[in-house]
Amino acid sequence: MELTALRLLLLPLLLAAPLAAAETVLGAYIFHRHGDRTTKSYKPVSLTALGAEQVFASGTYYRNRYVASDAQTRIQGIAPDVAVLSQLSVTSPVDDVLQHSAQVFLQGLYPPAGAASVQTLANGSRTEPPLGGYVYVPVNAVSTAASSGGSENSEWLQGGSGCANAVVSSNNYFASREYLDTLASTKDFYHGLLPVVNSTFSDSQATFKNAYTIFDYVHVSTIHNQTIPAADLLTNETLHQLQTRADQHEWGLAYNSSEPVRAIAGAVLAGQILQALNDTLRAPVASATAQRLTIQFGAYAAFMSFFGLANATAASPDFYGIVDYASNFVLELVTNATTPSSGALDPADASVRFLFVNGTVGDNNPPRVYPLFGRSDALIPWSDFAAEMGRFAIADTASWCRACGNSTGVCATALGNDGGDSGNSSAAGTSSTSHKGSGGMSRAVAGVVGAMVTLAVVLGLEALVLAVGGLRLVKKGNVAGKQASSPVGPSVTQA
Ligand SMILES: *[C@@H]1O[C@H](CO)[C@@H](O)[C@H](O)[C@H]1NC(C)=O
Ligand SMILES: *[C@@H]1O[C@H](CO)[C@@H](O)[C@H](O)[C@H]1NC(C)=O
Ligand SMILES: *[C@@H]1O[C@H](CO)[C@@H](O)[C@H](O)[C@H]1NC(C)=O
Ligand SMILES: *[C@@H]1O[C@H](CO)[C@@H](O)[C@H](O)[C@H]1NC(C)=O
Ligand SMILES: *[C@@H]1O[C@H](CO)[C@@H](O)[C@H](O)[C@H]1NC(C)=O
Ligand SMILES: *[C@@H]1O[C@H](CO)[C@@H](O)[C@H](O)[C@H]1NC(C)=O
Ligand SMILES: *[C@@H]1O[C@H](CO)[C@@H](O)[C@H](O)[C@H]1NC(C)=O
Ligand SMILES: *[C@@H]1O[C@H](CO)[C@@H](O)[C@H](O)[C@H]1NC(C)=O
Ligand SMILES: *[C@@H]1O[C@H](CO)[C@@H](O)[C@H](O)[C@H]1NC(C)=O
Ligand SMILES: *[C@@H]1O[C@H](CO)[C@@H](O)[C@H](O)[C@H]1NC(C)=O
Ligand SMILES: *[C@@H]1O[C@H](CO)[C@@H](O)[C@H](O)[C@H]1NC(C)=O
Repeated sequence: MELTALRLLLLPLLLAAPLAAAETVLGAYIFHRHGDRTTKSYKPVSLTALGAEQVFASGTYYRNRYVASDAQTRIQGIAPDVAVLSQLSVTSPVDDVLQHSAQVFLQGLYPPAGAASVQTLANGSRTEPPLGGYVYVPVNAVSTAASSGGSENSEWLQGGSGCANAVVSSNNYFASREYLDTLASTKDFYHGLLPVVNSTFSDSQATFKNAYTIFDYVHVSTIHNQTIPAADLLTNETLHQLQTRADQHEWGLAYNSSEPVRAIAGAVLAGQILQALNDTLRAPVASATAQRLTIQFGAYAAFMSFFGLANATAASPDFYGIVDYASNFVLELVTNATTPSSGALDPADASVRFLFVNGTVGDNNPPRVYPLFGRSDALIPWSDFAAEMGRFAIADTASWCRACGNSTGVCATALGNDGGDSGNSSAAGTSSTSHKGSGGMSRAVAGVVGAMVTLAVVLGLEALVLAVGGLRLVKKGNVAGKQASSPVGPSVTQA
């Protein structure tokens, strides 16, 4: 059994406390935004050198926090230098910027292992793998946005989600009083910025309707362009308004408390978080192969949907804002109990802690702990965490189909021909009476077992394969199938 190193921050406290208070980190889940990228206004969108630096710094930070042999709060049992692939699950949508970010992050998390990777052959000669013992950790692809809230090539959250009700719900935002009022009151503001953006946005496109794409264009220019036309118009106050209007616009599309399906990306994410942490929790603590660290890359909109559903906004109104590049949140699975030398920890002894960092994480910008679900305590007992997340998490295809009101294609199979006991109304509880809005938002765990050619099975299978054989599936199919070729988005259509 390995005890974790004491957290430096807590050192003074812990010195006074009995030794038993040393906390064990059983595992962690990280959801990560990509680093700095080029503007969405010109395709293809790509990760910049600055962006690569940011995610590499992040990978290095988490190495020093969770992985390295002298890590501050080392994940117990995780391989320190040469990665054991079954301990890791790294996924990203099929998207240049996100895939690239995930890869560079991993280079920081597991840098070339050098001496640790050297092997001695039967004849006594020593061999080192290429590139100084480069550690190859695969980034598994999820094929669309349903799990991660949109690719960077798509301007709009629901464009690639394939979730019928979510598309309708997000479009409802454009009929809301809040939207229409803001559209009117910001007319002059956006029009006044035309000299800055008119190479890309026409007169009629320069409105609040395109708040995010205009913000994105200007934001990227301020980072990369030495010659912005009419740059004197971009005062701090104007830049601030551009950003906060974009925040408001994107929040409106990502979350509405009366229409939970709008936050489908956050609901699916919650399902994946629960499954990942639960897998870690149920595995023998001493297992050398169990999944310990799950890392997913995704778009800012999925952060927003999740923050809305998990009521992070009760902890700080900052959560209403678009997270900066390379932002990430972490859910740590922790315990203060003595861990058993065989078998799994009693779930009653486990807790979860939510941490978030806005922008690139580092010693000068460490992750901060926030309570979730409107609670006052940041440390959440596992059973409470599972129950709170379970209220909105979607972890299987049948629930997804019910929430989305989809009934064809993969959903015809999941709903009608499920094989298990979840395809039919009983198991899902709130089930199929309402196919619109919030209907069917509850989880149907049994569906994971029952569904055949579906997301659930592919996800489950992967977990099984990981647990049993330490193998990797190259590609993880997704419930929403292929990326919608023409996003139904409200955004300006770029060439
Ligand atoms: C040892 O074995 C390896 C692999 O068969 C071979 O490439 C290498 O030349 C051998 N070294 C010596 C000193 O025989
Ligand atoms: C949220 O949903 C409610 C109920 O559908 C609607 O009245 C309200 O306008 C929506 N708000 C936004 C910002 O979309
Ligand atoms: C953009 O605005 C500037 C300043 O008003 C003007 O000189 C320029 O011709 C405009 N460009 C286009 C493409 O409309
Ligand atoms: C900077 O902005 C100008 C005007 O929009 C554009 O022509 C130029 O290509 C941009 N340069 C870069 C490096 O983005
Ligand atoms: C504008 O903001 C930047 C960065 O926050 C700051 O360095 C600068 O002093 C500000 N300028 C004015 C005029 O407030
Ligand atoms: C966690 O996994 C166990 C079986 O390993 C299962 O019984 C339980 O329902 C799962 N909990 C959640 C919240 O998914
Ligand atoms: C992150 O920082 C941006 C400003 O750069 C802000 O608008 C947003 O609200 C912040 N989000 C959180 C969750 O702190
Ligand atoms: C473990 O004990 C320390 C010190 O009392 C405390 O700060 C920490 O929150 C505890 N962790 C858990 C998981 O109970
Ligand atoms: C979020 O938490 C706050 C504080 O506990 C509570 O008042 C509010 O109703 C919660 N909102 C949602 C949507 O659950
Ligand atoms: C649910 O089960 C009932 C009885 O077996 C059957 O009549 C009904 O068609 C089923 N509904 C679905 C959606 O499979
Ligand atoms: C769900 O329904 C919408 C609208 O009919 C459709 O565009 C989308 O492709 C469907 N998604 C799936 C996964 O079948």
